Amino acid sequence: MTRETWATRAGFILAAAGSAVGLGNIWRFPWVTADNGGSAFLLVYLGIVLLVGVPGLLGEFVVGRRGKKSPVGALRDLSGSRAWGLWGVFYVVTAIALISFYSVVGGWILRYFGESALGLAGARPAYFTAPGEYFGGAAAGLDALGFHLLFLGLTALVVYAGVRRGIELGTKVMMPAVLALLVGLAVWAGTRPGAAEAYAFYLRFDLATVRANFFDVLAPAAGQALFTLSLGAGTMITYASYIDEDRSLPFDGTVIAVLNTLVGVLAGLVVFPLLFSLGVDPSQTAPGPGALFVGLAGAFSQLPAGALVATAFFGVVVLAALSSSISMLEIPVSFLVDEYGLSRQRAVALVTTAVVVTGGVCAINPTVAGTAVFGFVAGPLVDTLLTAGLTAVLVFVGWVMGRDAVAEFRSGAGGFSAALATPWLLAAGVALPIFLLFTLLTTFGVDASLGFWPTVLVAVLAGAVAFVGLRTERSLV
Ligand code: PHE
Repeated sequence: MTRETWATRAGFILAAAGSAVGLGNIWRFPWVTADNGGSAFLLVYLGIVLLVGVPGLLGEFVVGRRGKKSPVGALRDLSGSRAWGLWGVFYVVTAIALISFYSVVGGWILRYFGESALGLAGARPAYFTAPGEYFGGAAAGLDALGFHLLFLGLTALVVYAGVRRGIELGTKVMMPAVLALLVGLAVWAGTRPGAAEAYAFYLRFDLATVRANFFDVLAPAAGQALFTLSLGAGTMITYASYIDEDRSLPFDGTVIAVLNTLVGVLAGLVVFPLLFSLGVDPSQTAPGPGALFVGLAGAFSQLPAGALVATAFFGVVVLAALSSSISMLEIPVSFLVDEYGLSRQRAVALVTTAVVVTGGVCAINPTVAGTAVFGFVAGPLVDTLLTAGLTAVLVFVGWVMGRDAVAEFRSGAGGFSAALATPWLLAAGVALPIFLLFTLLTTFGVDASLGFWPTVLVAVLAGAVAFVGLRTERSLV
């Protein structure tokens, strides 16, 4: 059986951008920005996207296009080591963790979308009267389970249809629709009373906040950059494995990062004017899972054409979430197809069944050992998995592939991009893994107890240990 490939170049870019653009942009990005110093934070964030995100993206692209397999097969074949193949299984697990919580949030959105669309037919959407209670009822339990299944079903259908007829075709429709609807909504939101105030709040240039908290801001900015660019989960390895022509990876990576940032900024230009126009004070609304739903749903209820605006808005979010969730499901599917020769259809059935259960647990959201499952998976678990996952890819590119990685980077790249290959490899092999380990340590609060420089030292030492382990690994396996 020949391996599937993208039909067109635009197909790959749109699919990868579709994976990147998701809840991370629309739901999380505006809040993280507003909370951390507005446009001054945006600059730090852009810097991180450029210096960590794009090189990271290129790391995954290089492994994927060179390996032409799922993360498991690619890492194993390119290194000739079973240990790396085993590490590839880590990405399959990460993908399942991701989609387990993502599909639950996707379910909430689907429900809000349906509810708003019903409102178009005359009935007032139920969440108009009591947004807080409505969200409380929708967030966890049997209802959440039902909508999780629905969202997962839609995701599975697209992946079932295949790389070209499912993912490529789907994202070719979804991505332009998301962009067009968001631009439309942002323009309209700009005409609402209070828009000027909203821009001032969202995009204020608060350098003092960023300066005073620079190191505290780095970790959330890096975490946000990873999640929003779909890095560290093996998604971009998998998508790049379906590329069958030599084109400029640096160019594609930059386009994807720019599109992704654009959508995040646009989402803020929709969300904040809406909240301000109705006197909701965003600084009082915690950026938790409920913020988008409770705050905005409350705002929609007071608009003259509220149900219409709500339908358009939640429609955007559904499409954006779907084009991301398919990229998560595709990882375990490609693993089963490549490694066990399963048909795509059987692989989809198998993985979906597993996620019915794992996502089901997130939807019911029991408390295990004092921690609610959903919050744990959506927060610390996913953050840690993605950071560790990307660190490993970069180390792999820098120390295992080395020269091959440079060759792959250069292949199809123009003169200017090709010249960046060696600096990129150095960053990928040394600077970025240390930076990522550092953010991982700060996420666990190590810098608070040890201090800043000792934490940097720990990160460097951990890097050195990993490096020695890597050098000896070949003789072990
Ligand atoms: N980038 C997606 C978003 O912003 C989430 C995602 C993470 C998708 C990792 C795939 C892999 O919503």
